[in-house]
Formats: sequence, C-alpha cells, structure tokens
Amino acid sequence: MIGKTVLIVDENQATRGYLSSVLKERQFDTLEVGSGKEALISAWRDNPDLILFDPIFSDIQDVEFIQKLRQHARTEKTPIIAFSSDPAPARREACLKAGVDEYIVKSSGALSQLHQALDRLFSGGTTIPGSTESGHGSRGKGLLFVFLSAKGGTGTSSLCANLAMTIKEQHPEARVVVADLVLPIGSIGQIVGYGGQVNLVTAANLPSGQANGEYFLKNLPEPELWKFQLLAGSPDPQHGSNLKVDRIGQIVETLRAAYDFVILDIGRSLSRFSLPLIQQADLIPLIVSTDQSTVKLTKTVWEYLHELGIDTQNVYAILNRAVGLEGLTKAEAEQIIGFPIKTTLPYMGSNFALANNLNQPIITKYPKDTATIIFKDVAGDMVKLARQLRARAGLN
Ligand SMILES: Nc1ncnc2c1ncn2[C@@H]1O[C@H](COP(=O)(O)OP(=O)(O)OP(=O)(O)O)[C@@H](O)[C@H]1O
Ligand SMILES: [Mg+2]
Repeated sequence: MIGKTVLIVDENQATRGYLSSVLKERQFDTLEVGSGKEALISAWRDNPDLILFDPIFSDIQDVEFIQKLRQHARTEKTPIIAFSSDPAPARREACLKAGVDEYIVKSSGALSQLHQALDRLFSGGTTIPGSTESGHGSRGKGLLFVFLSAKGGTGTSSLCANLAMTIKEQHPEARVVVADLVLPIGSIGQIVGYGGQVNLVTAANLPSGQANGEYFLKNLPEPELWKFQLLAGSPDPQHGSNLKVDRIGQIVETLRAAYDFVILDIGRSLSRFSLPLIQQADLIPLIVSTDQSTVKLTKTVWEYLHELGIDTQNVYAILNRAVGLEGLTKAEAEQIIGFPIKTTLPYMGSNFALANNLNQPIITKYPKDTATIIFKDVAGDMVKLARQLRARAGLN
C-alpha cells in the first residue's frame, strides 16, 4: 500500500525483519522497534497508519501499552494488530478489550490472517499507480508468475487467464497484468475476447522511453469480465517472427515496476528470452496433463530447469485433466516427475471450451462448479505461497 507506514514492534529482531519484508512486498513503508517504550515514542512521533505488535514486552504491560495508545489523541484511532506469540485466550480477550483491532496468534496460518486483516483495513485506500515518488523507498517489484508447460494443449493459456482473473477478483485493489509471450502466436486475446491493436509486438516496437509503466497502465485493455489488464500476444506468425525479442526482458521489468502481479504465459517455450524470466519468477505454475508423454516430458523439462538453478519450491505443479478422465493419477505423475503436484483440476468436458468460446471466465460462467471452488483455492494458495517465498528471499 503505497504511502502507508506500519510500525512493527517485536522484541525479536528476526521477526521484525521478516514482517517488514512481508509488508514491503505489499508496498507498505515500515518502521521497526524492539521495545514497548520505543514503540510509544515512535507511534506518537511518526504517526504510522498501522501498529503491528507482539504484546509480550519486558518493559511494559500489554494492556497498559494499548491503553496509552488509545488515550492519546494521535493514536486513538490508529489501527492496532496484535501479532502475538501467546495463544492464551485470556491475553487475547484482554488485548481486544483494551482496544486492539485484531489479535493474530503466530502460527502456520498467521501470515494469511495478517494479509486478510490488511485487506480489510486498507482495501478502500488509494494507491498511486506506478508511483515511485514516495521518497522513502521505492515500491517493490510486482510478484512474477510464469505459466509454462512441457507440451502444447495442456491448458496453460486457459489456466493462466482464469487464475489471473481469480487473483484479481480476490485482490480488487491490486494491479494485475497478464502478458502473453507465446510465440509465434498468442491465444489469450482470443480467450478473453480482445482483438485490438495493442499487443506485445506493437509494445516492443515503441521507442523504449515511451513503453513505460504509465503507457501500460493507461493503454492496456481491461477485457470485460476478466478484470485484469492484458498485454496480448503476437496476433499472427508473421508479426511473431518480426518481434523484437530482445525487448521482452525490459517490458517485463517495466510491468513489474507498475503492477502488483505480473502473470506471464510462456507456453512451452524454453528459449533465450524465456529462461531468464523463469529464473526471476516468484512462482512457476507448471501445467501438466495426465497423459504419459506429457508427464515424461515434464520430468525432462524440470531436470533442465533444475540444472539452471531453479528451486523446486518455486514450482507450482498443476495436474490438469484437459483431455478426459483416463490417464495417470496424481500419485503416478508425482512418481515420474519427482516432486509434488500441488493440485488437480477436474476434466470439465466441453464446458471449458464453451466458456473460452464465449470469452467468459470459468468462475463467472460456472459459479457452482467444483472447478470454480478449486480455481479460487488455487489462486489464493498461489498468491500466499509467492508472498512467502518473496519474503523468505528478502531475508537472505
Ligand atoms: N480441465 C479441462 N477440462 C476440459 N477442457 C480443458 C481443460 N483444460 C483445458 N481444456 C481445453 O483444452 C484446450 C487447450 O487449452 P489451452 O489453449 O489453454 O492449452 P495450451 O496449453 O495453452 O495450448 P497451446 O499449446 O496451444 O498454447 C482448450 O480447448 C481448453 O478449453
Ligand atoms: Mg497456450
């Protein structure tokens, strides 16, 4: 959240650093202090937009700390979240009664609770698109998702578009862009119903000063129902073969500076331009279909990526039953590929192609279908994981 500052109070320095990287990833500015008394001074002097604190202090009682904040004119209305190492209900009740807005216990689900609390507190807030002018610290890079597959026809483009739409629906305040980098011809424009003039080829032909963040925010279409902005792919092989591929890295970099989520479809291309993108990705959704040959090819591709230094934890393998009910099970596919498959998408018969043909997202067209429930789960899970990985990377 550009322009908003969070005061982090925790006696443990590693925790402060960790929380700070999580918050910076969401474009908050952060202040860190290690004691209750310093926290009061900073709260009144620096006027943060949120105070996030562990109520276990050695220099002041938790309830007294909260009351002091609530009784002071500068902090009487400031949101306060306890991020507590104490799960005891008594402390929770005492803190809530004294005036904290939320009490989150440090545990495996704590980070997603924190993100939800931040969404509740700040989703109505204003953000300045692409702004880096806040002075203290420029905004972090947008999270990069690179969708790929080892073989064509596995559903990579449909899943990329549908999951991006679901992510945008779950994070309406975030700026989400999908870029179709499949050569020689893209297909996401067709899925979402965009046939306009702005695409990867035209963007790569602009003078580099002109293809800046502002240009994309202003000119990329936002197809109806899909909610994200689209940098469509090459419209035909002729244009695709003339694409200035050397510009792609810079375009993606520009998108990451202007958007919170940058979601790429690179299809099955492992090339000079796509490999560096895979290496930079926060998360690599790898789409696998259930037939033997795709699964075996996926293993080969994975071994190659692994040699290039890509970590298994960044790979988010999705088994998509694109071609019917027959084929390998999740366990069999995992055995061959050699790492876990995060989720399986059901075979949707002709419904999937129908939704694509009507340019409608699955979750809008079939809100009650099992696939919709899975899409929502997967989108939430992918964002959570990408944020955790980014925060962890920030610590190293
Ligand atoms: N779970 C599913 N159930 C039924 N049909 C599916 C499913 N997933 C994908 N499809 C269908 O499979 C076809 C191929 O999908 P898509 O174009 O997304 O694949 P791709 O991997 O991007 O292919 P390409 O190699 O051409 O880029 C589409 O007609 C789509 O509707
Ligand atoms: Mg495709």
